[in-house]
Amino acid sequence: MKLNTSIFRSRTIAVFLLLMVLPAPAASGDTPKSLQFGRTFSDYVKFTPDMSRVKNALTICSWVKKMLSGDYRSWFSRTTGSHQYELLISDAGGFNYIHSDSVDFKDSVTVPLNTWTHQCQSWSTSTGQMRVYYNGTMIGTKTFSDRAPLEEDGYILLGHDSGSQNEGDQFGGQLLKLNVFGRVLTDEEIAGMYSAGMCSEVEKNYDDVRFITWERILSETKTGNVSEVESGCPAPVEEEEEGEEEEEEEECVCPTHSMWDVLLEEKYLKQNLTEEKLTELKSFWTILDHFVGSTITEGIVAHLKMFHPKVGGGCETEPDS
Ligand SMILES: *[C@@H]1O[C@H](CO)[C@@H](O)[C@H](O)[C@H]1NC(C)=O
Ligand SMILES: *[C@@H]1O[C@H](CO)[C@@H](O)[C@H](O)[C@H]1NC(C)=O
Ligand SMILES: *[C@@H]1O[C@H](CO)[C@@H](O)[C@H](O)[C@H]1NC(C)=O
Repeated sequence: MKLNTSIFRSRTIAVFLLLMVLPAPAASGDTPKSLQFGRTFSDYVKFTPDMSRVKNALTICSWVKKMLSGDYRSWFSRTTGSHQYELLISDAGGFNYIHSDSVDFKDSVTVPLNTWTHQCQSWSTSTGQMRVYYNGTMIGTKTFSDRAPLEEDGYILLGHDSGSQNEGDQFGGQLLKLNVFGRVLTDEEIAGMYSAGMCSEVEKNYDDVRFITWERILSETKTGNVSEVESGCPAPVEEEEEGEEEEEEEECVCPTHSMWDVLLEEKYLKQNLTEEKLTELKSFWTILDHFVGSTITEGIVAHLKMFHPKVGGGCETEPDS
C-alpha cells in the first residue's frame, strides 16, 4: 500500500482510517430476525397497508428460505374485493399473479430447500409487464392485458395463498427483508440487491420508494405459529459511529447514495483500482486513495455507501492545505 502523507490531510479520510483500525464497532440492538412460518392455514401475517403509492408500479422483493418441497408454496398474497389473487408469489416459480391472471415459471428455476434465495416480482400499469427474478437474474417475463392499477381495498397475507386452502400452497419457510418498492426496479438494481447479500442494508438505498417495509412487517400482528428467528446476520453497526463525520460534512446537501454507484459500472467493477483509474475518479473522492491497488468489489462499494453516504460529487470535505 502506498503511504502518502497527503491523504491524511482530509479529515474525512482520517475518520475513515480510524474506522478501519478500531475494533469492530459496538453492535446496536438486536441481530436481524427472519420470520419463520408454521405449516397450517392458521399461521400467517395479515395486514392492510396503504397501496396508493405502489398501485401503478411496484417491485416486491424478499429473501426467501424455502423449507418444504413443491412449486406453489406461496409467501406473498394480496386479496381485494374483485381479485382473490390480485398478487401472489410462490417460492419456486410456480405462482406469479397480477389481477387474478398468472404465469408459471417453475420450469425455469430450481430452488433448493433450506437455502436463502433472493426473489423479486415487478409490474407496472404503463407496460403491463411482469418480471420475475431469482437470485438477481430474470427468469421470466410476461405482459398482461389488464393494466388497471392495484385496488386500494383488501389485504396482504404472508404465509399461504389465502384462498385455495390447498395444503401444497402453505409456505412453511422463512422470510427476511421483504420490501415493496413503488417503482419497477431495473435488472441492474435487482442484481445489485442480490449480490450485496442478505445481510447488507442495500434496500435502504431505495428508501425513497420503499413504501411497505420489512421493519413494518415485523411489527405486524403474527397469527398462529409465526415467530422471529435468528437470520444469521450480524447486528447492524451503530449509526452514531458516523456522527462526527457527518458534522464535518454538514454543508453538503447530497443524495444519500448513487454517487458511489459509478463504481458499479463495468468500467470499474471487479477492476484493479490503479493510479490511473484513481485519477479519473479523484475529482470526486480523495477517499479512494486508500484503496489503490485493490480490486473494486460490490463489498467495497457497499462499505463506502454505508460509511460515507454523503461523500462524492463535490460533497467531500475539502482537504486542508
Ligand atoms: C411452528 O412451525 C415450525 C415450522 O414449521 C415447526 O417446526 C414447529 O414445530 C411449529 N410449532 C408448533 C407449536 O406448531
Ligand atoms: C441462490 O443462491 C444460493 C447461494 O447464494 C444458491 O444456493 C441457490 O441455489 C440459488 N438459488 C437459485 C434459485 O438460483
Ligand atoms: C493492481 O495493480 C498493481 C500495479 O498496477 C499491483 O501492484 C497490484 O498487485 C494489483 N492488485 C490486484 C488486486 O490485482
